[in-house]
Amino acid sequence: MCGIVAYIGEEQAFPIVLKGLKRLEYRGYDSAGIALINKEGLLNYKHKGKVSELEKHTDKKNIDGTIGIGHTRWATHGLPNDVNAHPHLSGNENIALIHNGIIENYDTLKEGLIARGHTFKSETDTEVLVHLVEDIQEHEKVSTAEAVRLALNNVIGAYAIVVMSKDNPNQLIAARKSSPLVVGIGKEGDFYLASDATPIVEYTNEVVYLEDEEIAIVERNKGLRLYNIQNQEKTPYIQELEMQLEALEKGGYEHFMLKEIHEQPRSIKDCFRGRLNVNKGWVGLGGIKDYEQQLATAKRIIFVACGTSWHAALVGEYLFEDLTRIPVEVEYASEFRYRNPIIGEGDIVIAISQSGETADTLAALELAKAKGATILGICNVVGSSISRITHAGSYTHAGPEIGVASTKAFTAQVTVLTIMALAIARKKGTLNEAKFRRIITELELIPEKVAKVLESSDYIESISEIYKDAANALYLGRGNSFPVALEGALKLKEISYIHAEGYPAAEMKHGPIALIDEAMPVFVIATKGQSYEKVVSNIQEVKARKGKVIAIVTEGDKQVKAMADHVIEIPDTDEHLVPLLATIPFQLLSYYIAVMRGCNVDQPRNLAKSVTVE
Ligand code: M6R
Repeated sequence: MCGIVAYIGEEQAFPIVLKGLKRLEYRGYDSAGIALINKEGLLNYKHKGKVSELEKHTDKKNIDGTIGIGHTRWATHGLPNDVNAHPHLSGNENIALIHNGIIENYDTLKEGLIARGHTFKSETDTEVLVHLVEDIQEHEKVSTAEAVRLALNNVIGAYAIVVMSKDNPNQLIAARKSSPLVVGIGKEGDFYLASDATPIVEYTNEVVYLEDEEIAIVERNKGLRLYNIQNQEKTPYIQELEMQLEALEKGGYEHFMLKEIHEQPRSIKDCFRGRLNVNKGWVGLGGIKDYEQQLATAKRIIFVACGTSWHAALVGEYLFEDLTRIPVEVEYASEFRYRNPIIGEGDIVIAISQSGETADTLAALELAKAKGATILGICNVVGSSISRITHAGSYTHAGPEIGVASTKAFTAQVTVLTIMALAIARKKGTLNEAKFRRIITELELIPEKVAKVLESSDYIESISEIYKDAANALYLGRGNSFPVALEGALKLKEISYIHAEGYPAAEMKHGPIALIDEAMPVFVIATKGQSYEKVVSNIQEVKARKGKVIAIVTEGDKQVKAMADHVIEIPDTDEHLVPLLATIPFQLLSYYIAVMRGCNVDQPRNLAKSVTVE
């Protein structure tokens, strides 16, 4: 939540920071702001709403300056208005600060500061922090950097911050704890700071990912210095960025979400590249190679995740239990962390997260690690916090996902889980050669089959037109299609604001069937396989109550076609891999419905891409 970006160098800071904010807008879009230092002093522009509002607001204003910080906000403390927008200034207006995270003890700190004469303009925790820095600087007579360090020693919570002061217009001070921050090292002695690498990639590919409780000071002519919060100097570890600039553009599509849906044939292929060799009958994940034996002998695997990643974990449960015969539990990270979970020797906890920054998932992992578990990660964002705190893991290689609604990250997560389950099953000997060969042969064909499903886009758009005004929707599936039903319902809810529920098809008769009438669209996954006949019966139950059935079926199906109002065909595949195909029509349906309803598809209301707060 919240995106932060900053620049210091020889170029004009404003356009660089503004462009960076546009890249980070997926992290929050309640308000935006930029502060600059130039000959006139410290200028601070901020505005409610999107970055484009800020851009309008700053038109014809003085935006000169080669040092600047910017912020795009997802509101936690205080309404999304101009006053609560970042950057926040100290009382003497010498210091400006941007922040992503939550200062949990801000109330206590604020009381103390008010008692010492500070007054506050906003309701934010961030303004408290910048006043604290000012207060310490005045009383301790120390530099701004030292005041920031001392202030952070008094803070409980999560933060990624960047601070600049009129007293030293040649310096930016940055720090992080539980919220991400990357430093880009430019070619000409200039520096870029951002919540992720997307605003940096077009200027440099040399980056340093800050660790928790590290403070970076970047200064003209002095370069980058790194300290821990105890003031010990550290050597920055410079990494090379692999991200491509084109991956951050819409590439001719109207929305990032549509682009990302259409990228799936390629992103799934990228995901299994080098991990699957059908000729040699081999699968493997380099990142977890050293843990394969431990996984094969694990007594239990616990997946922790949130949202769409949690749905991928549910698909993983089916795969792992069927192929490896290892008992699996799937936990909402937010629930797991506040229980006293029983973690025994031989348990392995695997976190699944697109961003690798989700606060609840991170906290669940930390808890599991503290209890002695081996913790592994399946993340998309390279260098993210989860990928760094885990013992080992595998990247999904889906490329940057900008649309808030997760699409290609989901199919890539399911692909990694499939490969992982297959590799462990082979090691354990729980999967016979013929079944293994069949699954890997089919897995290699998935990208072209996804492409085939995408060819039905126009037809799916026409179905969307019919159901765009529905007030509610039900999604039904059985077995590994049940998580796909949940994911379909989540996609519809989050971008079109239509109330939708996902259910195991057979559960319908235990309650939800009462909702069915002629106005209720029921989306059903009724592909060939173990539960086909049972799902057919469930469809009949819906039709008997005049519900509208939109069924996803295997190519050539006749039985469901005769009953359903609409069918969407997907190519035949091995049953284990159906979620990779069946999810695509649901992504397209929710996309088209949201567009037809005039919703902001890439930035749905109240949401943010990366949920770095509890
Ligand atoms: O980055 P993560 O995968 O950890 O994010 C988890 C959820 O916040 C995320 O999947 C969310 O549910 C998406 N908006 C779903 O489209």
